[in-house]
Amino acid sequence: MSIKIENLSYVYLKKTPNEVKALDNVSLEIPEKKITAIVGHTGSGKSTLIQTLNGLLTPDSGEVTIGEFKVTSKARKNKRIKELRKYVSIVFQFPEYQLFEETVEKDVAFGLKNYGYKQEEAIEKAHEALKKVGLDESFYKRSPFELSGGEKRRVAIAGIIAIDPEVLVLDEPTAGLDPVGSKIILDLIVELNKNGKTIILVTHDMDIVMKYADHVVVINDSKIAFDGVPADLFDGDVSNYSIEIPKLFTFSKMLKEKGLDIDLKTIRNIDDLFVQLKERHK
Ligand SMILES: Nc1ncnc2c1ncn2[C@@H]1O[C@H](COP(=O)(O)OP(=O)(O)O)[C@@H](O)[C@H]1O
Ligand SMILES: [Mg+2]
Repeated sequence: MSIKIENLSYVYLKKTPNEVKALDNVSLEIPEKKITAIVGHTGSGKSTLIQTLNGLLTPDSGEVTIGEFKVTSKARKNKRIKELRKYVSIVFQFPEYQLFEETVEKDVAFGLKNYGYKQEEAIEKAHEALKKVGLDESFYKRSPFELSGGEKRRVAIAGIIAIDPEVLVLDEPTAGLDPVGSKIILDLIVELNKNGKTIILVTHDMDIVMKYADHVVVINDSKIAFDGVPADLFDGDVSNYSIEIPKLFTFSKMLKEKGLDIDLKTIRNIDDLFVQLKERHK
């Protein structure tokens, strides 16, 4: 099931002098089982948009359709919200701030108990999720507060993976992590996607967009400014969006402009460029 967003608007502090239109008539389709990146200036409306996807925010107008679920401006129509939140789960920015249990396994198991799992089953599922994020049994009984920043974030993500949502939304999942910590999270995202999950990723990092995203959406000033494949974004005019075009894209494009036969759309990393050069320029 793709996610269809139609004419969505959202206003904070409605009918006050500080009213902010955070989403302005946004329409968009997010493809199923793909990785979609959402990018744009700080304050452009990215976090607001993702919170409407599972009804955490109720839009002022417009609607979101996720298969059989709907989120509309009429909150009372948003039935089955609990089921929807299991279907579409959000990992917030800096999710490690929301850890609070005394052990890692209890923290990961916490959300499952909301879905009716008994303590024992919940702990078992928590262990599975912790394995998926690369934390072995030596972490189960530790306090989440004594872990490194990257480990804490993995615990927080495990809490979402344990619920086994079909759509995972991650708001700047690599922000503040070192390159090793970032890579662990990104590899995990790729793995989840390979296993059939739809991924929505908010990021400022265009190297991540180039390398991982199938689809990219730019939000600018509460509106959709671009919706398409990364190569088309990087190949167009990005001067209004504070987007830094990846060096690999710029280099590949330069080679193409100098007459080499290069398909920019299929280059995600340096190996892809190398393969093209080798195949086509024997
Ligand atoms: N809880 C809130 N109350 C009032 N204004 C908010 C709130 N959250 C976000 N905003 C405003 O809404 C706009 C969009 O914010 P947000 O969706 O967080 O953007 P982004 O995630 O792209 O940085 C910004 O102008 C922001 O200041
Ligand atoms: Mg944000």
